[in-house]
Amino acid sequence: MTKVELKVNGTPASAEVEDQALLVELLREHLKLTGTHVGCDTSQCGACVVHVDGVAVKSCTMFAVQADGAEVLTIEGVATGDRLHPMQEAFREHHGLQCGFCTPGMVMAALDMVRRHGRDLDEATIRHDLEGNICRCTGYQNIVKAIKAGATAMTG
Ligand code: FES
Ligand code: FES
Repeated sequence: MTKVELKVNGTPASAEVEDQALLVELLREHLKLTGTHVGCDTSQCGACVVHVDGVAVKSCTMFAVQADGAEVLTIEGVATGDRLHPMQEAFREHHGLQCGFCTPGMVMAALDMVRRHGRDLDEATIRHDLEGNICRCTGYQNIVKAIKAGATAMTG
């Protein structure tokens, strides 16, 4: 077992984890942050996306011990109190979800797209960058619309 100390959603956190434990297990099982989902065992679905030191990462592809000292942002840290983040609000407004299982990963991936592309976030870029996120429900049309609207709301 190894002690991992990190910051999650701005708050210091620590846990004793098995060396082979994944970051997603640390978040869900030790810290009870179950908004980060596990939708596959092949690193393909993107339901587990979080930000590590500001960059989107599939948390099922990283060992928990590798996050020692890192700042992690999960979907639980995106809203401000009761106020949804503009990207979350855009998903709500544009019906960018049905069952919602993929949504935390979609939102975290979308925020990373805005970080990387800013105002240049056009539909082709969104579709290309969504390659690592799978939705079994929506057909993506409204997810793309939501991300475009969310990016506009964020960047003015
Ligand atoms: Fe991480 Fe599917 S659970 S990519
Ligand atoms: Fe159901 Fe995407 S809304 S998996």
